[in-house]
Amino acid sequence: MRHLLDPLDFSVEETGDLLALADRIAADPTPYQNVCAHKKLATLFYEPSTRTRLSFEAAMLNLGGSVLGFASADSSSAAKGESVADTIRVISGYADIAAMRHPKEGAPRRAAHYSKIPVINAGDGGHQHPTQTLTDLLTIYRRKGRLDNMTIGLCGDLKFGRTVHSLIKSLCRYPGIRFVLISPEELRVPDYVISEAIAPAGIPYTEVTSLEDAMPELDILYMTRVQRERFFNEEDYIRLKDTYILTTDKMKLAKPDMAVLHPLPRVNEIALSVDDDPRAAYFEQAQNGVYVRMALIMTLLGLTDKEV
Ligand code: CP
Repeated sequence: MRHLLDPLDFSVEETGDLLALADRIAADPTPYQNVCAHKKLATLFYEPSTRTRLSFEAAMLNLGGSVLGFASADSSSAAKGESVADTIRVISGYADIAAMRHPKEGAPRRAAHYSKIPVINAGDGGHQHPTQTLTDLLTIYRRKGRLDNMTIGLCGDLKFGRTVHSLIKSLCRYPGIRFVLISPEELRVPDYVISEAIAPAGIPYTEVTSLEDAMPELDILYMTRVQRERFFNEEDYIRLKDTYILTTDKMKLAKPDMAVLHPLPRVNEIALSVDDDPRAAYFEQAQNGVYVRMALIMTLLGLTDKEV
């Protein structure tokens, strides 16, 4: 039995296979519509979500399976003090696979320890978000035709943005990658991401504060919102929240084939007028999340194209 708790749980080759399956599903989902008949997905969400929870549910329904779960800690027995370990022991008897989002870093890993079914980390605190990374990789691949030899700018809240940490970890495995880390001083990428991922891989990177200066060299711009829910005080959030706003004027500085990604939700960091720019890839990115999660559910349940 396998879980997906960290983006590195899948090798580069396995990640490539999963993205290829997601791409085949995107091209024609029809042959996959019954592959998970009689299988159940549990979505255990202790923190708010729109895309991750609903794209997991859409993915399982598209595969012919069923879904059950809860959308907040308040609507589960966590509100009465039940532990993650006890919850997953019980859910192991109700479902075939589980996706868990939790505000505490490491909670899905603890759940996996006690689980009899595959557990997927659907985001743990400010730590990791591996299924968002698979979604991001599929979007980059479908836009650029490759995952290597690119300059990738990550902009905004690089400290608390778990999607950023997971994407950096994963991309460090591809040749020719270079990072431009664009953030205010207070929201720099954590030291452990540099010392455990970027530095050991020998990946060139720069840390800068100006989005405008970075724009001309980027192949991918990954925008993020400032993560209000992880700040200790509201004053700091208010001071930092509008540091970066991507506008059509700033887009004029970018390469004609640059792609703008954002894990969403967007607050104020991308002007609505940018949505009409063909380089804006964030809504197709959200759609790719369904295909990638279909491929992931199949992979963790040991189902392949041969079953189709
Ligand atoms: N990208 C992402 O995780 O969105 P949600 O918080 O809506 O799931």
